Amino acid sequence: MKDELFELLKKEKKRQRDGLVLIPSENYVSADVLKVLGSEFGNKYAEGQVGRRYYTGNEWVDGVESLAIERAKKLFGAPFVNVQAYSGSPANMAILIALCEKKSDLVLSQELSHGGHLSMGQKVSATGRFFKTDHYHLSKRGEIGWKELGEKARRLKPRVIFAGGTAYTKKFDFKRYGEIAGQVGAYFVADISHVAGLVVAGVHPDPVPYADLVMTTSHKTLRGGRGALIMVTKRGLNKDADLGEKINKAVFPGIQGGPHMNNIASIAVALEEASSPGFKKYGRKVVRNAKALADSLGRYEFKLIGGGTENHMIWIDLRKKGIDGWSMHVALEMVNMFVNKQTVPNDPRPAYYPSGLRLGTPAVTTRGMQEAQMRLIAQWLGTVAEICQEHWSNSIGSENYEKDQEARKMFKKRLEEDKAIKKMRKEVRDFARKWPIFKW
Ligand SMILES: Cc1ncc(COP(=O)(O)O)c(C=O)c1O
Repeated sequence: MKDELFELLKKEKKRQRDGLVLIPSENYVSADVLKVLGSEFGNKYAEGQVGRRYYTGNEWVDGVESLAIERAKKLFGAPFVNVQAYSGSPANMAILIALCEKKSDLVLSQELSHGGHLSMGQKVSATGRFFKTDHYHLSKRGEIGWKELGEKARRLKPRVIFAGGTAYTKKFDFKRYGEIAGQVGAYFVADISHVAGLVVAGVHPDPVPYADLVMTTSHKTLRGGRGALIMVTKRGLNKDADLGEKINKAVFPGIQGGPHMNNIASIAVALEEASSPGFKKYGRKVVRNAKALADSLGRYEFKLIGGGTENHMIWIDLRKKGIDGWSMHVALEMVNMFVNKQTVPNDPRPAYYPSGLRLGTPAVTTRGMQEAQMRLIAQWLGTVAEICQEHWSNSIGSENYEKDQEARKMFKKRLEEDKAIKKMRKEVRDFARKWPIFKW
């Protein structure tokens, strides 16, 4: 079919093939996941639950949703699972709707600029607008500030304590979270969106024995379509036997209408793939590669928050290099390398032009890369940082908006004309093409 849209699809496929995805939340899905995402399951409306729908014609999509639920229960060892949330943010919203009953019920979560995620009660998110929230921070060593968390939990008596972040390089100590929540009678929710695949692979602690609820997106390390799983654990059901039903109702009709059955099918496929021995190997390699990348970055004098990584994520503070996260992500995009600009704890810069970067190894590991390739990637990152320093202007970050924007425009123009950038773009492209993305 000749349509402008399909031209865009061709270009996006090429971009993904010719580039290195180091954004920690992104990954490549398998051909089977892709197949069901674009399948007829997407045509079907199925409001309600399996066997109890508000539409007819659900014989086969009921089978799809049952498979997704049963596979998730088995893989994570949780007695109740909802697979209908459209994504991670609505899933966290649904959890808070299910758990918080009074206006005064407080939600305690990791502060955004300290690696937390918007959807766990930050003021700019609906979860922070409609629920009362407070936050804990990281220690100087980049670990959860346990003293502050414990003190706030005792003083504020939260209804919900969230564990989970979008930039955190340590292993989450779910046992410790569970103990604190238990002492103050709070629900403990573990959002494992980033590390779910690592939990399945056995290279990250498992939250299920300690949390009341566990939420994960399905599309990061789990490599499914974009959705979410909300799981209620045995501990959660012991606290409230109706918690599963409350979650179902909070998702539909609470905040959603018809579930996206093609997406639920893709989750079922991904969960089956994740239960294979090959996936365990993949999870181990993700962590090994992240450690290799972090170690190599040290050679190029990058300052890593937390001093390294224990999972798939690397968090860089660029202040020592005299550049910002925006400049690096712009320059890296020009050489076909994709990373996230990211705020750092107590960042003096605004979120759009933050002081840091966030990198991850899930996608490059799916392409089969190993430690040797991580060393090469670190070298490229080091070179790009030097190029950014060379073209940096002190007017970038100026309090005068016009001056700042003009300086950023000039910086981009100088990068585009830089011979080393042009050479590296070709080098990265030729390198990336050698690493197939499954078999598309
Ligand atoms: C820890 C965490 N929770 C929730 C979300 C929200 O997921 P989504 O982008 O699917 O809404 C993210 C996304 O990055 C995340 O990192």
